[in-house]
Amino acid sequence: MKEYLIYFAQAYPNFRRAELESLADLYNIPLDLQHHDETSPFLIVKLENDEQARNIMQRSVLSKGIYELWGHGKSVEELHADIKARSTDKFEIFKERSFRFNFIGYKGSRSNRQRVKLIESFSYMAFTGRVSMDNPQEIYTVLEEYEVTGMAKATTPINLWLGRQIQLSARSENILDKYDLRTRKYIGTTSFDAELSLVSCNIAQVAPGKITYDPFTGTGSFLVAAANYGGLPIGSDIDVRMLKGKGDDCNIQSNFKQYNTSLYFLDTMTMDFTNNALRTDFVIDTIVCDPPYGVREGLRVCGAKNPEKAAGRENVVIDGEKAHLRRDFIPPKKPYELSNLLDDLLTFAANRLPVHGRLAFWMPTANDDFEINQIPQHENLELLYNLEQEFNKWSRRLLVYVKRDDKYKGETTNGLKSQNIKNFRDRYFNGFNEKSR
Ligand SMILES: C[S@@+](CC[C@H](N)C(=O)[O-])C[C@H]1O[C@@H](n2cnc3c(N)ncnc32)[C@H](O)[C@@H]1O
Repeated sequence: MKEYLIYFAQAYPNFRRAELESLADLYNIPLDLQHHDETSPFLIVKLENDEQARNIMQRSVLSKGIYELWGHGKSVEELHADIKARSTDKFEIFKERSFRFNFIGYKGSRSNRQRVKLIESFSYMAFTGRVSMDNPQEIYTVLEEYEVTGMAKATTPINLWLGRQIQLSARSENILDKYDLRTRKYIGTTSFDAELSLVSCNIAQVAPGKITYDPFTGTGSFLVAAANYGGLPIGSDIDVRMLKGKGDDCNIQSNFKQYNTSLYFLDTMTMDFTNNALRTDFVIDTIVCDPPYGVREGLRVCGAKNPEKAAGRENVVIDGEKAHLRRDFIPPKKPYELSNLLDDLLTFAANRLPVHGRLAFWMPTANDDFEINQIPQHENLELLYNLEQEFNKWSRRLLVYVKRDDKYKGETTNGLKSQNIKNFRDRYFNGFNEKSR
């Protein structure tokens, strides 16, 4: 095993571990992240080889890059001593390759003159390869951590690492600019932010050729994120207007065209999730979604609010045809309990996902009301992650489950209807002033 240094982005530190663990698991790479510290962007991990490092980093959104660790010190002198002690054998291997040095400073940085001086101090490595700024074969990166105390600018690093760059992450390759909602052709009030859509797909293990279903598609944020990773997205939504978009060049298809991923896009259907029309033998590998919580969109299912009244309308005939059998018939909708919908979602996932398939969805909760038993559970699904993104008075949680085999009997909350989830909409609109009863 070799040591590698991961450098994380300063974004959603509580989601990092889940993202990397899920990517490692997807590629069957054993990865021990128990030393991960959310307060530090640096983490040393042990891996077999560079290929493993490339695999876990390539898709990552919450990391910036991974480096083969050549040495660490709390001062420049300590860094040199450690490099000489553990990496001398590497000097010969990389000696003739073209190279350049990079610097990454956390909470501080050094001037260009200081950088040149530090680069010169590595001369004992005796590289004979050409220096290439544009297209080097190897990039040696000095990663430095500074400590800011009071108002003074930090000038001396408290930790230094030297690493050979193995792989920059999707984030460092500008995936967030590419999928930025501000430049996306079709968005709406329900569009989910690009960064967390991509992170959700990583944790859900969307993978090339795997069918990824979003039952509450809306404007298709999770579908385009899934296609970015080669997943085959399919979606449904009860509201045809969401799926149709706003014209020929402003709809879900135009988003796939924009990102050059039309090839992966399967289709979308207007459908009430609770009356699901997908064939039962249609294999769904992954489900990623953001169910309707009634804040920006309504939760409705097909059915009549008043069944007696509706029964009277069954005999309405238009042009000799029963109205409800005509193609232009718009079925009535009725309100539905969110907790029932989440139970339906878990049951659907438990029935339809293959063993090891994942369900990932977002659920909002009021901070002062949250109790762990609000998290829905199904006996065939193991809850892997409950990741919280906190706002002022409420949070939304990414809940990620994995389908286990028949021997697994987990917890179940089926039938335990959560009053708090039900009341989320009311509490959201009254500013979380009154607690739910
Ligand atoms: C929170 S939004 C999802 C937004 C979506 N992630 C996006 O990127 O725009 C929830 C969606 O669920 C849809 N919906 C509500 N009730 C539904 C039902 N019974 N079956 C399917 N979709 C439903 C709404 O029309 C809405 O588009």
